[in-house]
Amino acid sequence: MNSNPLDDPSADPFEVAAQAAGDIARLTGVEHHDIALTLGSGWGKAADLIGETTATVPATEVTGFSAPALAGHVGSLRSILTPTGTRVLVIGARTHYYENHGVRRVVHSVRTAAATGATTMVLTNGAGGIKETWTPGTPVLISDHINLTADSPLEGATFIDLTDLYSSRLRGIARSVDPTLDEGVYCQFRGPHYETPAEVQMAKAIGGHIVGMSTALEAIAARQAGMEILGFSLITNLAAGIQKTPLSHAEVIEAGQSAEPVISALLARVIGQL
Ligand code: HPA
Repeated sequence: MNSNPLDDPSADPFEVAAQAAGDIARLTGVEHHDIALTLGSGWGKAADLIGETTATVPATEVTGFSAPALAGHVGSLRSILTPTGTRVLVIGARTHYYENHGVRRVVHSVRTAAATGATTMVLTNGAGGIKETWTPGTPVLISDHINLTADSPLEGATFIDLTDLYSSRLRGIARSVDPTLDEGVYCQFRGPHYETPAEVQMAKAIGGHIVGMSTALEAIAARQAGMEILGFSLITNLAAGIQKTPLSHAEVIEAGQSAEPVISALLARVIGQL
């Protein structure tokens, strides 16, 4: 495995992100992107629906990106031109906090997206649902988050406001595309184990509706970079103890695959309105 400059504690993560943005400009031929989109489990097909892919770059060729940890998590970046002329950078290479590479690597894609010029960050994931009315395959908007990792992408005394982190303006646009979209508070757990039923009850008691292992740290970094954020979860399963059967990764992947055509079309329509 190649060494990653972000593993050097003396490296400036924003400088590494600027280098990565330079790599993307060189490898895609596109100097500036407007919107960045991170695709989590179940959302992959959206990339094919939002416009014409003009370049695909293996993430391993971009400074600071790690190879994907999981089969099924595509390790590439795509530059897409929408019919209205918007440039979308699709990030199919997420580094999860549970991979233990440190939070700098977790948020590198977001910082890189900002360095390419993107001012809107769309974060998607597959997650467990706490609301009993949700069934596997339901897409929901993220209205806010509770960060249970006890970590932060901010270093030093960097005090950043997180009010309206998941932009109510962008949620309104998503709802204008699909008025039936529900929303909820996303709780990021460290993982990679799923939660215990008691942890799910705790998440519910403190105001959570969705449990997952990504997104919150990325959203904080996106806010720090000045981006406007839209978050979507695909409910792949009801959270542990809410559903009576044990959770399995295979079930999560399968729910993602069967929901993919519908939610990808929805996401593509929303992106078309941003
Ligand atoms: N918990 C955490 N992460 C998840 C889940 C879950 O139930 N489902 C998919 N990702």
